[in-house]
Amino acid sequence: MSLYLDNAATSFPKPESVYQAVMQTMREVGASAGRGGHRRSLEAGRLLFRAREAVARLLSARDSSRVIFTHSATEALNLALRGTLAAGDHVVTTAMEHNSLLRPLYLLRGQGVELTIVNAGSDGLVDPADVRRAVRPNTRLVAVGHVSNVSGTIQPVEEMITVARKAGALFLLDAAQSAGSLPIDVSGSGIDLLAAPGHKGLLGPQGTGFLYVAPRVALRPFMAGGTGGHSTLEEQPAAIPEGFEVGTHNMPGIAGLAAGIDFVLDQGVSVVGGKERSLAESARQGLGNIPGLTICGPPDPLLRGGVLSFTVAGFDSAALAFALDQRFDIAVRAGLHCAPLAHRALGTFPGGTVRLSPGWFSTTAEIAFFCDAVVECIRTAGQ
Ligand code: ALA
Repeated sequence: MSLYLDNAATSFPKPESVYQAVMQTMREVGASAGRGGHRRSLEAGRLLFRAREAVARLLSARDSSRVIFTHSATEALNLALRGTLAAGDHVVTTAMEHNSLLRPLYLLRGQGVELTIVNAGSDGLVDPADVRRAVRPNTRLVAVGHVSNVSGTIQPVEEMITVARKAGALFLLDAAQSAGSLPIDVSGSGIDLLAAPGHKGLLGPQGTGFLYVAPRVALRPFMAGGTGGHSTLEEQPAAIPEGFEVGTHNMPGIAGLAAGIDFVLDQGVSVVGGKERSLAESARQGLGNIPGLTICGPPDPLLRGGVLSFTVAGFDSAALAFALDQRFDIAVRAGLHCAPLAHRALGTFPGGTVRLSPGWFSTTAEIAFFCDAVVECIRTAGQ
């Protein structure tokens, strides 16, 4: 049995419809959207529009033109931050964030943006009251990851949005681990900016992502280049989305992403996320009685997404993941998962954890096999 349990890094396999959409776009459309007036280019434009509509449906966004396609969630986060922040602005974020959010913020801190990183409890939960206490008169943005890629902790974002609103600040949600797994309603909840990858819970290809920008947000471009129109302008057009999608679109990827979103919406986001969470929970039950094994994150399953991290006393997390791969052909991720401050909060720094993240195509039999393999690796260690 070959097991892929690293869906938090990227989901695999993809639905058949995603492979088909990628191939068809390359073989049968071929052209670039908005970069020509011929019929193939117009077809690519229609495909792009349908993909934008799919993202808008997923997020309950009223206007799909507020969806900007990017090549990753990281690019979307960089765009959100650079497009809204200036020297003298203050940002509140949390210790549970991935480097995709933290590093652009550190970079901006070097350019005069003030930064407060609110700590988390040892279960990875951030208290919205701490976010409120961190707010200052010049707070422009509150930026939070929905679900931790390390512990799976689901943050109380509704309360944090309220804090941001009362402070007159924007709210940015990093939905890297929640898009496609937890229902998100940007119109109803007051999310101002939402960054997500296309290749994780949305089951699209790598090299895809997007930023949703609420109508009240005026975004500044952070990259400049060709947009397919207004060619005589020297300055970058700030029209959303065209001004922000510089260069040729990843059309095969975007078509695959639209197919992935359609697949997730056909099943239902709650159903897909519910299955991932229930598989992670059965791993938690299966691993829970192993002596020396400690599971990270909140004990309450309602506060957990589909990611499960653990340590085993006396074991190096990377060595354990290596043994699972070499001996049992099981793919999991070990180490710090690009989220060093999260590991400090969880008490797993610097060694990190072993992380498994089931996906839509994972099964309970695979989880049972995984748990047995962990037991076997521990039992035979050093032999
Ligand atoms: N952010 C991805 C992960 O957690 C790459 O593995």
